[in-house]
Amino acid sequence: MSDRFTKGMARNIYYGGSVFFFLLFVGLTVDTVTAIPERENRDQLTESVANGKAIWENNNCVGCHSLLGEGAYFAPELGNVFPRRGMGNEEIFKAYFTSWMNAMPTNVPGRRQMPQFHLTEEELENLADFLIWTSRIDTNDWPPNIEG
Ligand code: HEC
Repeated sequence: MSDRFTKGMARNIYYGGSVFFFLLFVGLTVDTVTAIPERENRDQLTESVANGKAIWENNNCVGCHSLLGEGAYFAPELGNVFPRRGMGNEEIFKAYFTSWMNAMPTNVPGRRQMPQFHLTEEELENLADFLIWTSRIDTNDWPPNIEG
């Protein structure tokens, strides 16, 4: 074995390393792309969930709230509001959600306020379905804190 580090050895490390990490990158990309549809429960994507997402976006809820960590940090995380307030029961959650949305703003002095959005019953139902669906995405238990 040569005790000199030759140009040839350096080149082999360069090409070998590039090929190795390129293949690793391709492999992990394929793994992510195949894993995501299962994690998202796409078979449960109803029309109501899709409408709820549109209402969520049109009213800029994410301007104050975060959803699975993404968004603003003025108001609580809502990716886990279904287990937090509905305890896994859709009826309990929908009752809570509707009365919450209709009670805004609370006007409690010193408490951060959420606006009144004047949404219809159907729109609230859609939004609730969207939040329920979101909470069922397999996120490796993110967020770690149920209080968001
Ligand atoms: C201007 C900022 C703002 C916007 C925009 C906003 N919220 Fe909020 N939201 C808040 C604040 C602040 C709180 C917490 C209020 C409190 O605890 O008294 C809150 C709380 C909530 C809660 C209760 C969370 C819990 O843990 O009980 C829900 C549900 C909610 N918002 C849904 C929505 C939805 C849906 C939208 C969009 C249609 C929205 N919010 C838009 C500020 C906002």
